Amino acid sequence: MVQVASHVDRQEDSRSNPTVLPPPAEVRADDVLVGGSNSAFLLPVKLCLERGAGSRVWDTNGREYMDFLLASGPLILGHSHPRVCEAVTRQLSNGTAFHTLNRPALELASRLVDIPGCVETVRFASTGTEAVMHAVRLARAYTGRDKVLIFAGSYHGSHDLSIIGYRGAVRAKSGGVPDSALEDAVIARFNDIDSVEASFATHGSSLAAVLIEPQQRSLDPLPEFLTRLAQLCRSSGVLLIFDEVLTGFRLAFGGAQEYYGVEPDLVCYGKIVGGGFPLSAIGGRRQIMRLADPALQSAPNFVHISGTLSGNPVSAVAGLATLAELDKPGVYDHLHRLGERLRGGLAWQLNTHGIEGSVIGSGPIAAVRFSDSDQPGSGLALREAVNRELILRGVLAQLQTRFYISLVHTEAEIDFAVDAFGGALRAAIERTSSAEGLLAV
Ligand SMILES: Cc1ncc(COP(=O)(O)O)c(C=O)c1O
Repeated sequence: MVQVASHVDRQEDSRSNPTVLPPPAEVRADDVLVGGSNSAFLLPVKLCLERGAGSRVWDTNGREYMDFLLASGPLILGHSHPRVCEAVTRQLSNGTAFHTLNRPALELASRLVDIPGCVETVRFASTGTEAVMHAVRLARAYTGRDKVLIFAGSYHGSHDLSIIGYRGAVRAKSGGVPDSALEDAVIARFNDIDSVEASFATHGSSLAAVLIEPQQRSLDPLPEFLTRLAQLCRSSGVLLIFDEVLTGFRLAFGGAQEYYGVEPDLVCYGKIVGGGFPLSAIGGRRQIMRLADPALQSAPNFVHISGTLSGNPVSAVAGLATLAELDKPGVYDHLHRLGERLRGGLAWQLNTHGIEGSVIGSGPIAAVRFSDSDQPGSGLALREAVNRELILRGVLAQLQTRFYISLVHTEAEIDFAVDAFGGALRAAIERTSSAEGLLAV
């Protein structure tokens, strides 16, 4: 039987009697980390994690959570998988960083070029952000054009172009992104080929690339959308970049290229490829990638792609160990089955509780979208309230993004999460059914 202690009562305890629990680390975090956070996103419950094993994590107050955050996706084998730990431990005594060509990085590169699709050569970096940034730079150098088409609401990391896309629905941008960055961004709508055609009609001859999450924010592409996009790119001399930071090795071993059967010109990998350690890769056709060949340093369109820890051997062995597990027979069938079970359960709960919304995603991904209308409170407030209740019930997930599923999650754990989601919905509906309730969340 699956057990994770509900933290609802303990949370109430700590509110009424602050001495019950030791001083929470998350309070100190407010003083020393900006916003008490590690990133631009906040969980609706303050917690500080201390330990992870398999499908579980524990916070500094000893609370256990069933983890569907999985470090924002890299841990498809769960926390501290024995094969990954073995490989990393071995590597730790063989050298932790080289910067130069090293055996684990070479082996991992060989693994990546063996994947059917467009990847003929690769260059490593450390984060998904960097991989996308470098892919865009390669596309600009290759085509001699500057503009890049991105999709409103997409996410490609923390670089300027990505922020414009992520907040692109309102054409807003992050502080510190110069207005000039907007000039080179062309924004179309995902799954709307007419909007892409219109952008091509206006900007086609100055577009270097179309940068796309093939499954945008957990939303599958409509049939033919990617194929049509690839055709448009090809006929206009525009490079197609698949940002597979999230989908790579997740939807299928060959990622979105394999899953949707469409081949881009360049691919960005991150998250899973480093097995939970910092590593990313840009791969693609040889004639494009060769622009980053150091032997061409003096060529006018040489592309600088470098990083002190790029191709780090510890990350590379973690990535290799992870890919070895994923390459075993039946793995993706299993992951997809777990995903279907979770999506089905979450949708059933929404329906049962009369909540307007949908559950999207495929493979080991499930995302809940609360609709904005006809809800007690706005969809956004409800989502935050449900997310909070979910975490208090011992299920760690970020509803703003998605549930990530790992190979170590069991069907019983999926069912536990579904039940917890039902409980969270009930509690959140009660809280959000009045304006006062909403404010109290
Ligand atoms: C599709 C996509 N691209 C790029 C990134 C950025 O990767 P990183 O956070 O490693 O910089 C992310 C991160 O979530 C992502 O989901």
